[in-house]
Amino acid sequence: MTDQQLQALLEQLTLDEKIGQLLQLAVPFFEGTENEGQITGPMAAMGITEETVKNTGSVLGLAGAKEAMAVQKAHLSKNRLSIPLLVMADIVHGYKTIFPVPLAIGCSWDLELAEQSAEIAAREASAAGVHVTFAPMVDLVRDPRWGRVMETTGEDPYLNSEFARAFVRGFQGTDLTGDTGRLAACVKHFAAYGAAEGGRDYNTVDMSERQLREYYLPAYKAALDAGCEMVMTAFNTVDGIPAAGNKRLLRDLLRGEWNFDGVVISDWGAVKEMIPHGVAADEAEAALKAIEAGVDIEMMTACYPDHLRKLVESGSVDEGLIDEAVMRILQLKRKLGLFENPYRGADVEREKQVVFSEEHRKAARQLAVKSCVLLKNDSVLPLRPEQNIALIGPFAQNGDILGPWSWTGSTEDAVQLYDGMLAHTAASNIVVAQGCDIETAAEEHWQEALNTARQADVIVLALGEHSEMSGEAGSRADIRLPEIQLKLLAELKKMGKPIVVVLFNGRPLDLRSVVESADAILEAWYPGSEGGAAVADLLYGAETPSGRLTMSFPYSVGQVPVYYNNFNTGRPQGAPDAQIRYVSQYLDIPNEPLYPFGYGLSYTAFRYSGAKISAPVMPPDEKLTVTVNVSNTGSAAGEEVVQLYVRDLAGEVVRPLKELKDFRKIALKPGESREVTFTLEESQLRYHHSDLQFASDAGEFAVFIGPNSRDVTELRFRLEK
Ligand code: BGC
Repeated sequence: MTDQQLQALLEQLTLDEKIGQLLQLAVPFFEGTENEGQITGPMAAMGITEETVKNTGSVLGLAGAKEAMAVQKAHLSKNRLSIPLLVMADIVHGYKTIFPVPLAIGCSWDLELAEQSAEIAAREASAAGVHVTFAPMVDLVRDPRWGRVMETTGEDPYLNSEFARAFVRGFQGTDLTGDTGRLAACVKHFAAYGAAEGGRDYNTVDMSERQLREYYLPAYKAALDAGCEMVMTAFNTVDGIPAAGNKRLLRDLLRGEWNFDGVVISDWGAVKEMIPHGVAADEAEAALKAIEAGVDIEMMTACYPDHLRKLVESGSVDEGLIDEAVMRILQLKRKLGLFENPYRGADVEREKQVVFSEEHRKAARQLAVKSCVLLKNDSVLPLRPEQNIALIGPFAQNGDILGPWSWTGSTEDAVQLYDGMLAHTAASNIVVAQGCDIETAAEEHWQEALNTARQADVIVLALGEHSEMSGEAGSRADIRLPEIQLKLLAELKKMGKPIVVVLFNGRPLDLRSVVESADAILEAWYPGSEGGAAVADLLYGAETPSGRLTMSFPYSVGQVPVYYNNFNTGRPQGAPDAQIRYVSQYLDIPNEPLYPFGYGLSYTAFRYSGAKISAPVMPPDEKLTVTVNVSNTGSAAGEEVVQLYVRDLAGEVVRPLKELKDFRKIALKPGESREVTFTLEESQLRYHHSDLQFASDAGEFAVFIGPNSRDVTELRFRLEK
């Protein structure tokens, strides 16, 4: 379809039909399928008429080739000009083949596998009739109480940006037109949703514009630079105004400064939520604010269909604003090839072939292996096949390891830990007992678990959070494991046998008491469909752990937010002239997190030596190189994530103690060494000044190189200008 044809189509639309294009409704509003699809928010009565549904431009939460085709077919027969529906859904970390949750994917530090996971998700979902995925979610996070930390790749703006690009490339590929096996991506939640106060979901966000630009915006921008087609607004306020009605954010910054000309969609119900937020007196005012701010599609409330017509007729809204929004939506439909084939990739036969295929499951297993993080290991792991193992705990035989954003995945098809372990040892070597529930305090299976443990050489204790304990609306104030699980651990500890704790969960937890009792801890997150197989590969040493944390694990929830790229303060702890009392510290706990950003162990050991920088001065327009020699000094092959950080020692505004600038994931055989080289240039030293100018300062910089953000070697150089 040419631009002129698209313009002609727009001109044929009545005002109501145009407004209809700006509405997104969930599956239950449409005819064609009994299937409810995915409901991810309140389903309040919306007073939607049949006429409104006919004109609606997009559907959410629809997937499955048969269902998607049926809904599209019914819609085309009713919509006056047969304008196809856009089918959108949350395909966040897999469609049926579920990959680890994004926070776990972040811990892989593996951009290629991350891209591949999105590509596979797109291949499966597009065969199931989906056109647009509400992903990637790239919100920067510093507060593990927030349940949605599992949806993002973590606390670092640079790393989050790299993953944002990788996910967009994977979902979208280079061509979206027609049946390409790809999906249009929708980056979310714009902006700064991850900074909800107190970690309570949907709560206020307030920060300086400098902070916003420096830490929170880069990953959204990176997704858009990679060609991401859509943006979803956040639920929260940004500088006092809810994102869905925030003109400065959407019109001035997103459209004006960043030149984004794709579709902006509100989050579920967020347009009408401007009323309880307290910036709109009624639905009409909410509609006015959203359309003026630049929200093209209203998701799951009816302020647009109920009020935009009157607002246009009364002259409050220029019809041109509506035309613009409709045009962007029609352009996306064209780009996806829907005018030529409204069913696009939906294909029942192909769906059967590609969905949950051997090849896809293999990829999920590979990424799960790379995503797990070994937090502690006092020479218990890897297990030996001949050892007698007591596998205990609520996740010993549990398929609830896909995470809360896997609505199309099947927990029944997920490989459970017990089954995964059976691939490495004879059944007679493992005795299994649940021990306790995830949360309920019943102790009736206690004895069985203790008896089981008595027979074993090693106890593998599979603990964690069920999937409802994190994710959207899944905030927790106490981020320890549920008491019953800690009690079970304490009981087992009394037996004096080595204990390996495997954790299945969606957030960094307060693990202090676990660390005291466990001899080894493997953080498996929600590892996805192949989770049990991947974790067992690691436990038995068929694979070596290589994941590194991308979000700090607090020592106590009292430290939160605790993150690696913090400031020094004027009275840092540990300074040579620091007094005992008057320094920035807690009286009762350390300042440092329990496990820092970048941290993770291996079954082998890596030695860093000979770190050097090519020159003490970086002249204008010249680069420096930083090199270090990394050797595998242990007896297993393994992968190391070599990390490069920088500190600007005297900025115009205070700069973080460390900022990640680059990394390399390298594989080394036992005894093997490699020289790792990074280049550093002036553009990497820029930051937002007090006047928001993005520039660097001449002066002294520290460079740190090492296996995590804590254990580093420091070098220095001067930037000349
Ligand atoms: C979530 C979004 C999601 C949307 C549609 C909302 O509740 O915040 O992340 O994309 O629902 O399912």
